[in-house]
Amino acid sequence: MKALAVNPKQENSAHVVEIDAPSLDFVPNGRGVLVKTLQVGVDATDAEINEGLYGQAPEGDSFLVLGHEVFGIVEEVGPAVKHLKPGDYCTCTVRRPGPTMYDTIGRNDITSHDEYYERGINLRHGFMTEKFVDDAEFVVKVPVGLKHLGVLSEPVSVCAKAIEQAYLAQTRLQVWNPQLAFVTGAGQIGLLTAMMLRLRGLEVYVLARTPNPGLKEEICEGYGAHYISTQEEEPADLVKRVGNPDLIIEATGSSYVAFNSMQYLNRNGALVWTSVTGGKNTITDFPSDQVNLEWVLGNKLLVGSVNGNRDHFKKGIADLAMAEVMFPGVTQKILTTPIDGFDNPAEIIDKLTNDKSALKVYVNIAEAS
Ligand code: BGC
Ligand code: ZN
Repeated sequence: MKALAVNPKQENSAHVVEIDAPSLDFVPNGRGVLVKTLQVGVDATDAEINEGLYGQAPEGDSFLVLGHEVFGIVEEVGPAVKHLKPGDYCTCTVRRPGPTMYDTIGRNDITSHDEYYERGINLRHGFMTEKFVDDAEFVVKVPVGLKHLGVLSEPVSVCAKAIEQAYLAQTRLQVWNPQLAFVTGAGQIGLLTAMMLRLRGLEVYVLARTPNPGLKEEICEGYGAHYISTQEEEPADLVKRVGNPDLIIEATGSSYVAFNSMQYLNRNGALVWTSVTGGKNTITDFPSDQVNLEWVLGNKLLVGSVNGNRDHFKKGIADLAMAEVMFPGVTQKILTTPIDGFDNPAEIIDKLTNDKSALKVYVNIAEAS
């Protein structure tokens, strides 16, 4: 069976490997689910793993199979599996349990262990292959009516967690009722977050560099959000025009933007950082006294959020469904860039890193039969 793999920490090593076909007995106690892979989305994490910035092979292997955003169809289930049956569409969570108490209660997404075990990212093989087996605990059903958006299940789980974390943390304020949100970055995370915040009734401004008019603006408007090109209006000017946001979700991939967005948050506001910045950039010229003062006097909150567990997948998928009712046909516009199979890894990496018009690059691996 073919899979797309990298040699971790080695620059530009994506290549096709031959691996053994999976079998249900890989998972003990009859809890195995055998899945045929239909589509796998790729994102900046895959690009950075291929750049050699991070990523580790499973113990005993020299390569790491890529792919953490999977959409597939169940082919076979073990006798103990109740929530899935052959023919169901599904996705999988990414992180597998480590040894901490968070992991033992199913919160692998907030493990405090030094290592995290993530399929397709760190120490566990990913889904960019023809078939795979996983424990039923990590396989989440995708409703048939969402099969055209199933490949967005993992990204949307990341957004669901980021938003949930803000609301959970803000219970510290007893009566927090956010009205205005900024989302920085208009990649898949930024756009899907905008959609989810609109479903919660917030006024949403998405800030990114790409000039108008364009697809990002079209999608934001489809969700009833506003798209601001920072080449046309500086964040500081936007704040003068519309006020300070109660909630900022940062998803640009730039630590410069992440830190600078601290300047715009409203009193009692929450800022959520979601960018995994694998580089070595440092910022200079940051008004730290002023930001520190305003954050203390304004009781502001910063929370980092990564990954998503089973519940976040379910919430994200539920919001994908609700968005189809509220904003029909908008979300599929994110799916700009399908690639036929993974035989040509260079094409995948090229689309991911050089194609400015690509909002979502994903690989079509098989058709449902
Ligand atoms: C993935 C997350 C993962 C994170 C850190 C992201 O690209 O979507 O599931 O936890 O990278 O590895
Ligand atoms: Zn990702």
